Amino acid sequence: MNEKQSSQTNLNEAQEQGRYIRKIRSFVKREGRLTKGQAAALERSWPTMGLKHEDGKLDLVEVFGRDADTIIEIGFGMGHSLVSMAAAAPEKNFIGIEVHRPGVGACLMEAEEQGVTNLRVFEHDAVEVLQDCIADNTLAGVQIFFPDPWHKKRHHKRRLVQPEFVEHLRGKLRVGGVLHLATDWENYAEHMLAVMQSAAKWENLSATNDYIPRPEERPLTKFEKRGERLGHGVWDLKFRRVD
Ligand SMILES: C[S@@+](CC[C@H](N)C(=O)[O-])C[C@H]1O[C@@H](n2cnc3c(N)ncnc32)[C@H](O)[C@@H]1O
Repeated sequence: MNEKQSSQTNLNEAQEQGRYIRKIRSFVKREGRLTKGQAAALERSWPTMGLKHEDGKLDLVEVFGRDADTIIEIGFGMGHSLVSMAAAAPEKNFIGIEVHRPGVGACLMEAEEQGVTNLRVFEHDAVEVLQDCIADNTLAGVQIFFPDPWHKKRHHKRRLVQPEFVEHLRGKLRVGGVLHLATDWENYAEHMLAVMQSAAKWENLSATNDYIPRPEERPLTKFEKRGERLGHGVWDLKFRRVD
């Protein structure tokens, strides 16, 4: 058996056994260097704020020491929006998921600076974290801001927002929970809208049945401010789980 056949056999076996194997990922892992500040923040704050995929299903009340609405942000980058939102809503719990280690370090550094304690982070693939660590019907919100647009048509399959993924997300939200998406790439905005409109059991919160004005709670990023000056667009979408 050649290498290709053998990996196909492994995949078939895993699928038959019901093991979860994804062939296409929404990210390419970059081995960026940590700054001293990021490394120090990881060392100081990981023990209190870090969550590990291998620890399995989370008990949110135990993790946060209280029963409160929990919002997950997928692909938080350097964590600017996530930390500002957590600081602005201390009554809610926030969980960030990011694969890029320097981003996780930057997020913890900013959380320390702002004295934010209602935040936990994973350094792992969000698709696996949702599958293995988050119980069904538990989240008040999920947000995905400026996910990698994967510009080239042949890479569109790598886009995070896809029918199967949003159906998976729906199961993690409780009924009434909200999915908030934002992108600055028009073609991805149209793709997001098409995916969400054809997905069952969601209600579009847009008055015009497409996009919504930027909600107050989503912090305006530096990059977005620059885009605004240059006349670039940003599209926000919010859908509520209705069943
Ligand atoms: C274009 S950046 C946007 C970052 C941030 N949300 C912002 O608005 O600045 C997309 C981020 O998503 C992360 N990402 C992509 N796929 C992911 C996945 N499956 N799980 C966790 N993070 C992911 C990437 O590492 C990257 O940092």
